[in-house]
Amino acid sequence: MKFTIATSVLLALLPYVALGNVAHSRSGVQGAAYFLTNDPTGNYIVTNTIGPDGHLTVHSAVYAGGKGLGIPSSLAPSDGLFSQGSIQVVGNILYTVNAGSNTIAAFEINKSDATKLTPIGKPVNSGGEFPVSVAVSQKTGLVCALNAGAVNGVSCYKLTPGGLVPVPNTRRIVGLTQTTPPNNQPGPNGLSHVIFNEAETQVLVAIREPSGGAGRLAIWDINAKTGALTQNYTEFVIEGAHATFGMQVLPGKNAVLASDPAIGYEIFDFNTKRNKTAPYNITGQVATCWATYQEKTGNVFLIDSLLPRISEVWVDKNLNSGLIKNYALDNATQALDSAIATVNGQDYLYVLGAVTQNIDVFWLKAPGAATNVQHLLFTDPLAKLKIPQDSKHIQGMAIYLTGSW
Ligand SMILES: *[C@@H]1O[C@H](CO)[C@@H](O)[C@H](O)[C@H]1NC(C)=O
Ligand SMILES: *[C@@H]1O[C@H](CO)[C@@H](O)[C@H](O)[C@H]1NC(C)=O
Ligand SMILES: *[C@@H]1O[C@H](CO)[C@@H](O)[C@H](O)[C@H]1NC(C)=O
Ligand SMILES: *[C@@H]1O[C@H](CO)[C@@H](O)[C@H](O)[C@H]1NC(C)=O
Ligand SMILES: *[C@@H]1O[C@H](CO)[C@@H](O)[C@H](O)[C@H]1NC(C)=O
Repeated sequence: MKFTIATSVLLALLPYVALGNVAHSRSGVQGAAYFLTNDPTGNYIVTNTIGPDGHLTVHSAVYAGGKGLGIPSSLAPSDGLFSQGSIQVVGNILYTVNAGSNTIAAFEINKSDATKLTPIGKPVNSGGEFPVSVAVSQKTGLVCALNAGAVNGVSCYKLTPGGLVPVPNTRRIVGLTQTTPPNNQPGPNGLSHVIFNEAETQVLVAIREPSGGAGRLAIWDINAKTGALTQNYTEFVIEGAHATFGMQVLPGKNAVLASDPAIGYEIFDFNTKRNKTAPYNITGQVATCWATYQEKTGNVFLIDSLLPRISEVWVDKNLNSGLIKNYALDNATQALDSAIATVNGQDYLYVLGAVTQNIDVFWLKAPGAATNVQHLLFTDPLAKLKIPQDSKHIQGMAIYLTGSW
């Protein structure tokens, strides 16, 4: 991209403008894929257009309204937040975290041009320190942030035309002994991910305790009238599991599949509330962290950051489960968050690569037949946009498809 006078003017208008506008035909653009720079000098949402063949093009960067921050880690230095869900799209609203500013922010996505993001009000305090994950419930209108720092737990908001507004009696502390940013991870006492259960009657938080703990979730019930969360959380523990990281609701099954960086994954069965499904080993795994559900097949894709490898697993109606296939990524990748989108009837899996500074695009032709169709490098396009970012900070992956809302 050439830096024109118009671009310099845009730069001067920081913070709330989109930088750059890599010239290419708008026609055929199906939507956008977003990730976060999470940089301590300023956090940006990077927008990438999705073409008719599912391929991506880096487009622009939009100031997220605060600063990023990374967790020091000797084992996985390229994993800024150790979280899933740092950027979320529900309807045509994008939600994200500013981990270094203790805020969360909401943006309206232009329905005809998904690279255009307009802030809705100002970022709001996340109710704790080091926000890493956001969950959105359309049924209750709750937007819940997960804080993983010295003050850790959840805090919920509702979206108004003027911005996010805290909902009374939703600030709930987990109370792990932690620092801001969290201490060297993976280590004891990590919070990774917040989601709602399928019925959207509960808030679920994944708790990591790699040093000898069990796989566990913290669960708060939502008051249907007020949106308030129960005062204390209950726990759902799977013994034999080690650490829950990224979660996926298994639709129609009243269960949640969670990745387990020490083993592979586990399935929390809310029908029985027991660990009748023992944790699942993924042979040879090193750090299975991010989980993405494919609606079309009911399969889940799990990202092993350190191998680096993607595992596709099946789950049947009785919550039996097993591996379908492993897919290799470049050795240097250190893969992070992923998302799936259906473009022109075909499913594509988008995987953020931290060290390789890329997004790998897999065409999910059929179960067990994922094919890597693009290796999009973003270092140069982001340098041209003058957006500071590095492998120690980038995080998140979310999709908006035009016409989906
Ligand atoms: C969305 O983008 C289109 C195309 O650039 C523009 O014409 C329209 O005014 C925008 N809509 C809003 C609500 O900003
Ligand atoms: C529930 O929360 C209240 C208020 O924080 C606290 O006093 C009480 O001890 C908690 N109860 C349990 C069982 O943890
Ligand atoms: C969970 O499974 C483990 C073995 O994996 C077993 O030792 C434990 O008793 C089970 N706990 C419950 C509550 O069923
Ligand atoms: C999982 O792997 C561990 C260590 O490799 C092994 O001890 C355990 O028996 C395995 N569990 C299952 C259910 O295969
Ligand atoms: C990745 O590393 C493994 C083990 O060191 C090696 O066998 C393999 O050839 C490497 N693959 C690539 C693509 O470099």
